[in-house]
Amino acid sequence: MSEAFYTIVMGLRGFIKEYFHSFWDYETPKVMVVKNRTLGVIYRAVQFLVITYFIWYVFISQKAYQETESRPDSSVYTRMKGTAVHGDDILDTVEYARPSEGGDVISTLLRREFTYDQRQGTCAEYFNVPNANCTTDSDCVEGEVDFEGHGRRTGRCIQYYNHTFKTCEIQSWCPIEEYAVVREPPLVEAINFTVFIRNSIHFPKFKVLRGNIKRADYRKTKRYLNKCHYHEDTEPYCPNFRLGYIANKARENFTELCRTGGVIGVFINWDCNLDLDPSHCKPTYSFRRLDLRKDEDNSGYYYRFAKYYNKNGVESRTLIKAYGIRLDIIVHGQAGKFSPIPTIISTVTALTSVGICSIICDWIMLTFIDKNEVYSDRKFDEVIKEPIEHIPTELSYISSFGSNHSDLSEGVPL
Ligand SMILES: *[C@@H]1O[C@H](CO)[C@@H](O)[C@H](O)[C@H]1NC(C)=O
Ligand SMILES: *[C@@H]1O[C@H](CO)[C@@H](O)[C@H](O)[C@H]1NC(C)=O
Ligand SMILES: *[C@@H]1O[C@H](CO)[C@@H](O)[C@H](O)[C@H]1NC(C)=O
Ligand SMILES: *[C@@H]1O[C@H](CO)[C@@H](O)[C@H](O)[C@H]1NC(C)=O
Ligand SMILES: *[C@@H]1O[C@H](CO)[C@@H](O)[C@H](O)[C@H]1NC(C)=O
Repeated sequence: MSEAFYTIVMGLRGFIKEYFHSFWDYETPKVMVVKNRTLGVIYRAVQFLVITYFIWYVFISQKAYQETESRPDSSVYTRMKGTAVHGDDILDTVEYARPSEGGDVISTLLRREFTYDQRQGTCAEYFNVPNANCTTDSDCVEGEVDFEGHGRRTGRCIQYYNHTFKTCEIQSWCPIEEYAVVREPPLVEAINFTVFIRNSIHFPKFKVLRGNIKRADYRKTKRYLNKCHYHEDTEPYCPNFRLGYIANKARENFTELCRTGGVIGVFINWDCNLDLDPSHCKPTYSFRRLDLRKDEDNSGYYYRFAKYYNKNGVESRTLIKAYGIRLDIIVHGQAGKFSPIPTIISTVTALTSVGICSIICDWIMLTFIDKNEVYSDRKFDEVIKEPIEHIPTELSYISSFGSNHSDLSEGVPL
């Protein structure tokens, strides 16, 4: 037992001693020139690919010589414009646009469902609510509140409005929406509503401030800004977007949107190369529907609100379920500018990566071309100080410690 332990300790000592010996040696790779046309062609081809990749993709396309900044500070202001005539009613922005502050989320309603004249009282529960159907009072539990339902049960079973069947009576805002709802036709004019989007961004690292409205335009004429409509090709600087244009670019059917409502993302992308003048830094816009549509029933966008009034001293309300388009304005940005440090790092990476060529070619040479092991013999030759026959085998080397530990440093472990 202790013999073996001793052997291990001495072996370790030998290794460490050996290591410190070779620490002071200089190592240099030997260059071997292989006169093989196939290998030469492969080598140059791989080298060409690697160099092209770095020059074309890394440096020119990805601009690896630049210092970059993403996530600029951004501010968005929006305003909805347009007027809709709805029967005798005129709808202006106050009625259809929400919220009125104009942040990066703005919605316009497209279709409304009214429940008129609701007041606190008792009435029949909607028949599709679980356990709402009943035949006698004992089917209804007094005081029970079902979150899928509309209110608190009174314990009575009553006729469902003017229908023949019965449901439990509840205390709530009555009559319930499902029974009394009046659906309005959609606001088709909304397709021509416009949303004005003003976006300013700031890259703090480069101290660059940009906006999506050309300053010259702003000073020159406010009328232009009031009348123009954005179009990718003809009016790229106009910040007024027609809802029809947005829906179209998001590949949505406006008629269908009026029915279900929807959330559309307006993406403003800033990609700035600050090696050029900052005036070249312009936004591009893209549009995509954001509410998931895998499950058709759950997509869409609506919200409810109520208008309250006093009728004969009783507080009453008109409940409105509004379907609409909500626009979420999402700003992405990045800027890049020449800087020596990324340039050096990328250049060094590129030069190092050229070394990949020899690894690949070595592998090809040793695996496919070196049939009679000419190259591998040459490639891995070993130079040892002592003649071959004096090299002890590992086993004899270690076992010799047991009896003889006077000289460890001369052994060459393999
Ligand atoms: C309640 O009764 C009505 C009318 O008979 C029926 O249409 C409805 O599906 C029933 N509701 C439930 C939850 O069973
Ligand atoms: C219930 O009354 C409304 C009007 O109050 C009417 O439109 C509807 O047809 C009636 N339903 C039945 C089943 O009688
Ligand atoms: C929208 O505007 C276009 C042109 O200004 C007009 O032809 C079209 O009828 C309008 N659509 C609606 C629904 O008002
Ligand atoms: C849009 O949807 C409506 C109804 O869903 C359909 O009648 C109409 O043809 C659709 N329009 C387009 C351009 O697909
Ligand atoms: C131990 O080493 C010495 C000198 O290096 C040698 O003379 C001697 O024979 C060795 N002993 C054994 C047992 O190998």
